[in-house]
Amino acid sequence: MPALRRIGSPCRHRHAGNRHSAGLPGVFLLLALAAGAQAEPTAARQAELRHLLEQDCGSCHGLTLKGGLGPALTQQAMQRLPQEMYVNTILDGRPGTPMPPWRGILTEDEVRWLVEGLRSGF
Ligand code: HEC
Repeated sequence: MPALRRIGSPCRHRHAGNRHSAGLPGVFLLLALAAGAQAEPTAARQAELRHLLEQDCGSCHGLTLKGGLGPALTQQAMQRLPQEMYVNTILDGRPGTPMPPWRGILTEDEVRWLVEGLRSGF
């Protein structure tokens, strides 16, 4: 985080007030942009999502996600389609099949994190 250090040390010696008021909004903007780009769930939420994957998704896709009523969600199987197709399938389900929509239960960022995890083997 070089931006924080750059603001921190000179301020103690000179122009403290001015530099703070000019610099901090920029830092917050940068942090907000970085968070928006990554949007990783918190560690606690990640644990919940992995539990959900095993219990809820696993009830149809198999406890080890090797397939059951629904197809396998293993790392290898998840390379078949583009990432967005998986994200949309999980958010909106597949009408006419038992695959239910998870929108409202999972956010788009959470679904994206799950799909990325499945495709890269967590
Ligand atoms: C009630 C059973 C059921 C549950 C619960 C369920 N799925 Fe599915 N899922 C299916 C079925 C059946 C399909 C195949 C739909 C079709 O025929 O295209 C599917 C398809 C998928 C696909 C597309 C796979 C592919 O190769 O096309 C993904 C990804 C997926 N599910 C992820 C999930 C995730 C993640 C969860 C949990 C959040 C979940 N599913 C929960 C039944 C389920």
